[in-house]
Amino acid sequence: MSEGMHQNTNGMLLNGKEQSDIIKGEIATQVSEIVSSGKRAPHLAAILVGEDGASKTYVKNKELACQKVGFTSTLLRYDATITEEELLNKIEEINNDDEIDGLIVQLPLPSHISENKVTQAINPAKDVDGFHDVNVGKLTKGEDTFISATPYGIIQLLDRYKIETSGKHCVVVGRSNIVGRPMSILMSRADNPGNCTVTLCHSRTKNLADFTRMADILIVALGRAEFVTGDMVKPGATVIDVGITRVPADNERGYVLRGDVEFDSCAAVAGAITPVPGGVGPMTIIGLMQNTLKSYQLRHA
Ligand code: GUN
Repeated sequence: MSEGMHQNTNGMLLNGKEQSDIIKGEIATQVSEIVSSGKRAPHLAAILVGEDGASKTYVKNKELACQKVGFTSTLLRYDATITEEELLNKIEEINNDDEIDGLIVQLPLPSHISENKVTQAINPAKDVDGFHDVNVGKLTKGEDTFISATPYGIIQLLDRYKIETSGKHCVVVGRSNIVGRPMSILMSRADNPGNCTVTLCHSRTKNLADFTRMADILIVALGRAEFVTGDMVKPGATVIDVGITRVPADNERGYVLRGDVEFDSCAAVAGAITPVPGGVGPMTIIGLMQNTLKSYQLRHA
């Protein structure tokens, strides 16, 4: 099957591409109202260090999305040899630049640079990735904050497709700071989507399939291509696939993208499922655009 051609689900295909296009249109309308009132457009700055292929693609997609919604975007690219101090100085400069609303530093960073130091150096009010301790703390307490982009995108996909979450059992597989852990917190919060009973599974979980089979909502973010198979899914469950692994293939690009979920076998039993690509990925970018707009609005309130 070619990429993007997944249609043979028994249940509903959660089309992140389609929803993201709709939401981008909504953001673009708000931005054009801002600009026609004489104010400047929201401005996102991205820092990319080194030559990682996947990171370059992600940053490019973020820039394209900015163009689409009418944001200004600035990409700052540095060699992998940049020192930690130089990078921290650049972040400080952007922190103090009133013309910039949001700053992201694309991860991963070269090993001589501390990702934690870099993440904590970003002004929390411009931390549209939601990675700063202040924003993670607020998320944990259920306070208003920048929700990190992937969990925020997933929440909105569940919302737009009216997936009932209240009282349901949500199983999250993967405990990363970027996706699994914040996702588990959001799904347990007293809000909609939310109000789930949440189980957070990870690499040390014994008998993983016993847990995934109990999930009404299964969110998989462990980064192993096609790890979850149909026999691990409860009939009728909602399956959210966060994985996006490049698997070597005999095509022009030299790879195909695969999720953490084996699509065909899971789609046959799921009630609703996200494809890869075209599911969570485009919704992640929406989360980032919305956080940037929010940051702009807060500083222009
Ligand atoms: N690397 C993988 N995902 C992300 C993300 O959401 N933000 C940043 N800055 N880097 C990433």
